[in-house]
Amino acid sequence: MEKFIINGGKKLNGSIEIRGAKNAALKAFAAALLTTRPVLLKNVPEVEDIKRMVELIQSLGVKIEHIKNGEYRVTAKKIETYLLDPAIAKKLRASVVLTAPLLARVGRVKFPHPGGCVIGERPIDVFIDGYGALGAKITHNGALYEISTQKLRGSKFIFPNISVTGTEAMMMTASMAEGETFLKNCACEPEVESLANFLNSCGAQIIGAGTPNVKIRGVKSLRGGIYETIPDRIEAGSLAILAAATKSRLKIMKCEPEHLDSLWSLFGKARIKVKINKSSVEILPSFSSSSVSVKTREYPGFPTDLQAPLCVLLTQTEGHALVHETIYEGRLNWTDELKRMGANILALDPHRIEIKGPAKLKGREIESPDLRAGMAYIIAALCAKGQSTINNIYQIDRGYEKIEERLKKIGADIQRV
Ligand code: EPZ
Repeated sequence: MEKFIINGGKKLNGSIEIRGAKNAALKAFAAALLTTRPVLLKNVPEVEDIKRMVELIQSLGVKIEHIKNGEYRVTAKKIETYLLDPAIAKKLRASVVLTAPLLARVGRVKFPHPGGCVIGERPIDVFIDGYGALGAKITHNGALYEISTQKLRGSKFIFPNISVTGTEAMMMTASMAEGETFLKNCACEPEVESLANFLNSCGAQIIGAGTPNVKIRGVKSLRGGIYETIPDRIEAGSLAILAAATKSRLKIMKCEPEHLDSLWSLFGKARIKVKINKSSVEILPSFSSSSVSVKTREYPGFPTDLQAPLCVLLTQTEGHALVHETIYEGRLNWTDELKRMGANILALDPHRIEIKGPAKLKGREIESPDLRAGMAYIIAALCAKGQSTINNIYQIDRGYEKIEERLKKIGADIQRV
């Protein structure tokens, strides 16, 4: 199994380009199945989760051409089966969004509970209730769910929990339902808005995506089109945090700074200097940064996917910080390893920790439990004195394209072995 060997304690310098957002591209692949016409996907990150999605869609008999790095063409002229291959679907939480186009195109879908439970319980009740509201019937035989419908009808649905993939799946399904659908308490993440813009460019009629209230008028069919993946705000935020934690000067290029306003506001409070431009951000070395407490929230709040990198930064700033993870109950477990690297962390309960900084981190051998914690370990290893080994880097490759090659270019001592 591959691992990263990192020698920490060095300053980084230079500029780094952001890749397309994995969590936007994954949904665009699913949306491409709503039409029989070709869809061209651009700026797709070449990461493991995308490869799993491609395999899963190909197993449905849909044609996918990998045209060149970052570019794919999906042609779902025919969909040959309504079973999502359980072996692949279980590896990927985003597999659940494929239920939407299958229901809309085939009227039926059979699938396992989607994968990814290390960060906490991840139920799918929102999907079940949402599809039920559009007229679908749901059964569960112990191993697989089956959802079927003769006809999807527009309806009103209020999300009991704000859900990103839930909102995306409902926008896709309702686009092909008869009549109007009103969705309330929707997720407002930029990935949701980007998906709606793409669907609208193919002929869908979605109004209000990116706000809590979304109205969808169903259409009979969608055209093909081109999807340009938005920049990955989590990758951009993680690299900004890396620069701040290592007190380095780093320019983050080809990003969408506005998608990270919650991070810039937190940096302001922590006295970390940032220059924000239209599509780039420069982080300047800050030697007297102070700790700031944070609560993870749905967009536009502070993202749960940046909680782990931020915790590493808070081991390097001065003072006490309370970190409250409100989205996932298991997403602070990874900090046990950070403590072993020398961080001063007190676990208060499954959702809250207190971090006292600054701490001198020491290199260690660590196991990456999920992709965002994996990125946090890279940041911790680059801050630490001595050598660290990060095992199970498949988790990091799930979401970050060739991260070690890109970090080497800004001066990081990191090897894949
Ligand atoms: C998306 O997951 C992202 N994944 C996650 O990124 C991200 O952490 C999350 O949104 C929150 O921003 C993808 O887009 C593929 P949710 P999603 O449904 O949509 C509860 C990463 O690291 N909930 O918005 O699956 C749920 O348990 C990943 O790239 C229900 O209770 O998340 C959680 O507490 C990790 N019932 C909350 O809602 C449901 O049916 C928000 O989850 C669905 C969700």
